[in-house]
Amino acid sequence: MKDTFKKIWQWVDERTGLGEMLGPQLTHLVPHDARWWYVFGSATLMAFSLQIVTGILLAFTYVPSGGQAYDSLMYITHVQPWGWYLRALHFYGASAMILMMIIHMVQVFAFGSYKYPREMNWLSGVLLFAFTITLGFTGQLMRWDQNAVWSIMVAAEQAGRVPIIGPWLGRFIVGGDVESASTLTKFYALHVFVLPGIILAFIGLHLQLVLKNGISEPPTPGKTVDPATERAEYHELMEKTGVPFWPDAAWRDAVFGVGLLLAIMFCAWYFGAPAMDNPPDPSLTTANPQPDWYLMWYFAVLALMPPQIESVVMVFGPLLMGLLLFSVPFISNSGERHLKKRPWAVGAIVLGAILVGVLWHAASEENWSPHFTEKPLPVEVVQSTDAHVIHGATLFYDRGCINCHAIQGHGGVKGPDLTFIGSKLDASQIILRIANGGKGMPSFAGILKSDEMGDLLAFLQTRKHAPLPYSNNN
Ligand code: HEC
Repeated sequence: MKDTFKKIWQWVDERTGLGEMLGPQLTHLVPHDARWWYVFGSATLMAFSLQIVTGILLAFTYVPSGGQAYDSLMYITHVQPWGWYLRALHFYGASAMILMMIIHMVQVFAFGSYKYPREMNWLSGVLLFAFTITLGFTGQLMRWDQNAVWSIMVAAEQAGRVPIIGPWLGRFIVGGDVESASTLTKFYALHVFVLPGIILAFIGLHLQLVLKNGISEPPTPGKTVDPATERAEYHELMEKTGVPFWPDAAWRDAVFGVGLLLAIMFCAWYFGAPAMDNPPDPSLTTANPQPDWYLMWYFAVLALMPPQIESVVMVFGPLLMGLLLFSVPFISNSGERHLKKRPWAVGAIVLGAILVGVLWHAASEENWSPHFTEKPLPVEVVQSTDAHVIHGATLFYDRGCINCHAIQGHGGVKGPDLTFIGSKLDASQIILRIANGGKGMPSFAGILKSDEMGDLLAFLQTRKHAPLPYSNNN
């Protein structure tokens, strides 16, 4: 039996050179003391592999079209055998991938492993970070429920504020003037083809760099990096104390990776797939949209910013963050690696942790835009006995206008204050705005019945500046 396997292997190896190709990679020398801190990179890769497998399985059933996505997900969740578990695996796998990636990144930073000669390892890692977060965001939209649709709406509105290319970007995100089926199709293509393809390519580069430059030894205070001598020193160290990656170090990656898989499988089984929110409908008020955890802090930034500088933060925030991460190896690629001798690095880690923690807390307090906890307008605000006007005020709540628009201090702040809209716009202008939407306002043309539109109009027309005393006719 063993002989047969050996023969088959020899047959293949002789014709492909596989052993010659993989052997040196698998047995390259790694520092003998690179232990459990070094497993997070391969764990990220492990989670990504799970995402590919579960993602492909989901794609067999999922229909990426605006009209059917929701139903196909309902089918996967409630009808298809094990469908709910597949969704759950894909969901927790995504969280695991991002979590492992963040830990890997912090560890590499803390160990000063990005210094010479591993600057490119770091840079390709920063790009992988950005692509992976985008992968998560586009994945969240695949749920195509109320939550997803609101997320796109917020994203598109924010993107619309980017100077010059903003309107184009906004239109690109929603795939036209209003969010539509083509929006989902576009994000689907990004999510299953473009981003995973790019990520695979960059993982290839990243691993190639790991092999070329070797794995950095754990830092020792006082032992500095000098680009002139670093490679020679590392080579000597490996010759003296290095151990072959396979099997001396690889078993830790394997153990941790399998442990991670088991944890994902357990979470998926215990917590199940993320609940499906209501089907997308911009006029529904029961939604409480929240992005997945790894984006929550960013939405909090946007929600907390005063509107005047929101656009600036929205555009330059991520850009600045990316630049900052990117510049790390250029700021310092030599000298001390141990945190004890790098007070600035300690400061950066602590500050970053506090910042993300605070924002995260702020975001979990919900009310990132828009507001979804509004109550109906009180009687003293409506101030009318006309049945149409009263009905209009009810619709203002029922149809979700109040989530974005305030009247006399009651309601959300995402859209303009409508306290005096009756003085500002005439009937046809108001109807036009409601029916057409645009710029962060959903189109209500197909949602409101014509008598509802009439009553809403009647109500909004009563929202006027108080008549001045001398304008009375008597
Ligand atoms: C998702 C948030 C949102 C919802 C829900 C929403 N709007 Fe708006 N609305 C906006 C935004 C944002 C604007 C500003 C658009 C612009 O600047 O062009 C706006 C503009 C308007 C305007 C024009 C205001 C002006 O000062 O020019 C009117 C009128 C209006 N909305 C009425 C409504 C009504 C009635 C409803 C409910 C049927 C509603 N909106 C629901 C976000 C919303």
